Amino acid sequence: MNERAIHKAADIIKRGGIVAFPTETVYGLGADAFNPMAVARVFEVKQRPYFDPLIVHIGDLSEINKLIKEIPYDAGRLIECFWPGPLTIVLFKKENVPDIVTSGLQTVAVRMPKHEMTLKLIKLSGTPVVGPSANPFGYLSPTKAEHVREQLGDQIDFILDGGPCEVGLESTIISFVEKNPKLLRPGGIPLEEIEAIIGKVEIDVNNHKNPSAPGMLPKHYAPRTPILLEWSQKTIRKYRDKKVGLLAFKDPGPLDSINPIEVLSKNGDLREAAANLFTAIRRLDQLGLDLILAEPVPEVGLGRAIMDRLQRASHKGAIN
Ligand code: TXA
Ligand code: MG
Repeated sequence: MNERAIHKAADIIKRGGIVAFPTETVYGLGADAFNPMAVARVFEVKQRPYFDPLIVHIGDLSEINKLIKEIPYDAGRLIECFWPGPLTIVLFKKENVPDIVTSGLQTVAVRMPKHEMTLKLIKLSGTPVVGPSANPFGYLSPTKAEHVREQLGDQIDFILDGGPCEVGLESTIISFVEKNPKLLRPGGIPLEEIEAIIGKVEIDVNNHKNPSAPGMLPKHYAPRTPILLEWSQKTIRKYRDKKVGLLAFKDPGPLDSINPIEVLSKNGDLREAAANLFTAIRRLDQLGLDLILAEPVPEVGLGRAIMDRLQRASHKGAIN
């Protein structure tokens, strides 16, 4: 662990600067959650609309008391099972959590990331740290420090490099502010695992009109190259004379009509596919292709979150 880098990053956060930090899901763009000016800079750098609230990251369980009034029983059980880890919970906030963090909502999203460097960074900073994904708004989330460098490098104060992200998909978001728990965003913890602990969870991931989690906007996570979530010999033939790349879930066997091909997981392992997803799309996106054809994955476990991101990344109808 690079102690010097962690101390440097913590100093920057304490002084109101902004730092990209590693987590098990994706890289975040950090600032002191209780410093509205620093948080405003995070919005500016990301060009993120102010109506889209941020997740606050804590380094120690006791820190949650700075942010929320009380923890409902079921939320507590999820915290016990999954923190530190890729689970964000939305709860009623304390008055002093700045409005800019929550976009004026009475609720706040909180998570404890599973990454030694970042847990230490937050503890040393002495404050909860906001952390939207460290990408320009609407683009793919970064899963390596170099992705952050490419996209935001010259606009932020420091990048804490913690290697590639292990999970590769953003956290699962569960809200506890209504009568029943609600899934707002599928992510790194499969819904099945959550329901095994607290029972049935309502699904509310497609509320586009007035999104309470704008990560739900239909075109979020979009690369520049159009993606078509379709996979058949017929589609491949249809786009024969275009420059087409393939995003395969598992080994497609010999296919000489198409090149390049990115395989998410040779043996069709969803965990491995999730970890490779954003990097693979990014690589294809840099090749100047006309179209990326993506293979659907089974919608179970992590497959639900992978399909959610692929659907949002696909520009249906943009090319025909
Ligand atoms: O895995 C992650 O969660 C990553 C890493 C860096 O921790 N962070 C992340 O942040 O994905 P971001 O800002 O890209 O996505 C945060 C999502 C948004 O869709 C936002 O609308 C939702 O969380 N959110 C934040 N506060 C909320 C609230 N009070 N109520 C409902 N949704 C909220
Ligand atoms: Mg994001």
